[in-house]
Amino acid sequence: MAFLQVARKTGATIEVIPNDEFGQISIAGLRQAIDERVKLIAITHVPTNGGLVNPAVEVGKVAKEAGILYLLDACQSVGQMPIDVHEIGCDMLSATGRKYLRGPRGTGFLYVREGVILQLEPPFLDMQAAEWVSRDTFKIRSDARRFENWETNYAGKIGLGVAVDYALSWGLAAIERRIRVLAETLRDQLNDINGVKVQDLGQQKCGIVSFTVEGKEPSKIKRLLSQEKINISVSSAQGTRLDMDARGFMSVLRASVHYYNTEAEVERFCTTLASLV
Ligand SMILES: Cc1ncc(COP(=O)(O)O)c(C=O)c1O
Repeated sequence: MAFLQVARKTGATIEVIPNDEFGQISIAGLRQAIDERVKLIAITHVPTNGGLVNPAVEVGKVAKEAGILYLLDACQSVGQMPIDVHEIGCDMLSATGRKYLRGPRGTGFLYVREGVILQLEPPFLDMQAAEWVSRDTFKIRSDARRFENWETNYAGKIGLGVAVDYALSWGLAAIERRIRVLAETLRDQLNDINGVKVQDLGQQKCGIVSFTVEGKEPSKIKRLLSQEKINISVSSAQGTRLDMDARGFMSVLRASVHYYNTEAEVERFCTTLASLV
């Protein structure tokens, strides 16, 4: 929606890159779409509605070759796997605190590569982002603080910092390893339940596990599981319209595992789900 809003305001056009045969962004399709009009390549690393991890490094190579700005939405991936902006080659990366980082809600961070800071004008300016030099002039800061606001939630930011330190203390590689084992176990067990179908796409998968249950309303399944103290979520078509419309889904069920989950919990979840379908 943010892109649609900008397009409506500026006359920019949004071109959607097709998927490859695995359901992730097609690198060949991306290459084909590039011409002199393209100003930004923006992708979502991990979508909200499934376990797919997009090939962010490959996209980075295409962006670099073409000299086009590259924005990576890493909201679902930060905290569940190592993220190296240099390896990925993105110019900008956005992340949230409230998901796999296990930080406070309403927090997040934006990375902007130093070399492109001056090209990017933030949508709102205040006295943190800029200096009011004279009656009719102002000067935007030249460092990353131009993307900040004057007023801020310090407690939330401290919480985010603690969450980041905590994740780093376990190590993101170890976190990813544990999550992958649990997620694969969960996918295997879900696929064994009659009427349940795992819907995750992509060559590389992560801790989000999406599935459908034949003939059952997702919100009802969620409610019944909640009564058993098992929390899962429902991803509606609104959240990822391009993907959900193309696959003909109104919604999918989403279970996310993290390193603190146990094999026993995965098993209890699947046994409980099996008793409901
Ligand atoms: C891919 C992706 N990007 C961004 C967001 C927004 O995160 P937040 O609301 O914490 O800013 C979400 C939330 O679900 C998401 O899945």
